[in-house]
Amino acid sequence: MPTTVRALQGDITQLPMQAIVNAANASLLGGGGVDGAIHRAAGPQLLEECRQLGGCPTGEAKLTRGYRLPAEYVIHTVGPVWHGGGRGEPALLAACYRRSLELAAAQGIRSLAFPNISTGIYGYPLELAAQVAVSTVRAALEELDGLEEVIFCCFSARDLQVYQRLLGEQPGGAPAPPWQAPGD
Ligand code: AR6
Repeated sequence: MPTTVRALQGDITQLPMQAIVNAANASLLGGGGVDGAIHRAAGPQLLEECRQLGGCPTGEAKLTRGYRLPAEYVIHTVGPVWHGGGRGEPALLAACYRRSLELAAAQGIRSLAFPNISTGIYGYPLELAAQVAVSTVRAALEELDGLEEVIFCCFSARDLQVYQRLLGEQPGGAPAPPWQAPGD
């Protein structure tokens, strides 16, 4: 069955996906941005497990449990810091998306949400990052089995617009997921 790939606006820590991806740093010991939000929502046991992992190189990914998150698993990946694009940033960012999907498939994960890796504190321009994200995910899913749904979780409405354009979605055209139902 083809994997559903779509974008939505929201807080990734609230999504009822089987796994969410964390835009971490090489220490895997927490930080700001989405990393800080995921650690706060998951609770201190997440940091305990991360301490056992011995860090993670840029472009790689490691899996932990999700603890107090709705998600069963967190896949921690380390995006590149943007230096203008000439230091291998696109290939490293693509590796983050590809390795995260490979890890998810190997674990039998059926639904996965990505944040916009590297586009916050690490400074990667959103439009360029989104092009890498969408093309890499589409290509990787051609070769991986078992994933039913992949979501690009955008924190801002502006970021969502970029993803909707790249995915060929109409704004507001996708059915509202149950956790965004009116009165929720
Ligand atoms: N849900 C979804 N997206 C979010 C959330 C959230 N709760 N919070 C922020 N974002 P960033 P990076 C978006 O800075 O650029 C940390 O300190 C945010 O708006 O979190 O990869 C790590 O420890 C942006 O679109 O990650 C590293 O040191 C996207 O998530 C460093 O930051 C990524 O922004 C990693 O920087």
